Amino acid sequence: MQFENLILEQEDHLATIIINRPKKLNALNRATIQELHDALQHLESDADVQVIIITGSGEKAFVAGADIAEFAHFSVKQGSQLASSGQKLLFDFVENLSKPVIAAVNGFALGGGLELALACHFRVASENAHMGLPEVSLGVIPGYGGTQRLPRLIGKGRAMELIMTAGMINAAEAKEYGLVNHVVPQEELLDFCEDIANRISNNSPVAISYAIKAVNAGFMNNAQGFKAEIKAFGECFGTDDFKEGTTAFLEKRKAKFPGA
Ligand code: COA
Repeated sequence: MQFENLILEQEDHLATIIINRPKKLNALNRATIQELHDALQHLESDADVQVIIITGSGEKAFVAGADIAEFAHFSVKQGSQLASSGQKLLFDFVENLSKPVIAAVNGFALGGGLELALACHFRVASENAHMGLPEVSLGVIPGYGGTQRLPRLIGKGRAMELIMTAGMINAAEAKEYGLVNHVVPQEELLDFCEDIANRISNNSPVAISYAIKAVNAGFMNNAQGFKAEIKAFGECFGTDDFKEGTTAFLEKRKAKFPGA
């Protein structure tokens, strides 16, 4: 398969998807989200593939978020469509894939980047990784499942603090929070993930797909939360704070929020 924004590597039972927009720190625009969906769908139907790793190209970023330049001028309706189509095409899709997906977090995982890592089945980080949900600094909220999956993984209080401060945590803190399972030097990250993938591929793919279903089923009773996130995300697009936050980012200055 040919992609504009991804590199797809396959060896034996392992497939690695590398998100490849290094000049934009691998920010997720809509084309990349669609390509990720297509790549994952293709790998799910390839009987040779047992485990998938998702990582970012370069040494700086896994994914630095959704592409702010692409949505800065969206209306409320376009904002909620952005969240709902992204959730369906990529974030829910990854979470419910029948094959294990490991996020190899090789640098910044911010906003939609952290939300992608959260949707993967588990995460391994390099020592230089930094993670956070900076959306409220732009006048918007996480819209790709971050308000739902982050509290599940690290607890409500820690998630609230990270979301409200728009702050970043480093790899060691992320491990302490249970956000990532392991932290390794950057040059060892992919080998480390491949080693886990090899151990997974010794086991029954059918049983693993049932395990994914069963684990996910335990979290399915909060569909309302995801719906509420999409609605609130869309509503942000109608506010002066959103206009100021996104404009300030694109103009490379600090936002001055007018507030409610
Ligand atoms: N959307 C669009 N473009 C982005 C981006 C994003 N989420 N994150 C980074 N970029 C672009 C920058 O605009 C810049 O493009 P330019 O060279 O054409 O000006 C390029 O990627 C490099 O980023 P830069 O900010 O110059 O790198 P830095 O090392 O100074 O800072 C970050 C790195 C990650 C701290 C900073 O890029 C950042 O804060 N990104 C946005 C994070 C965010 O808010 N994500 C949530 C989005 S909802």
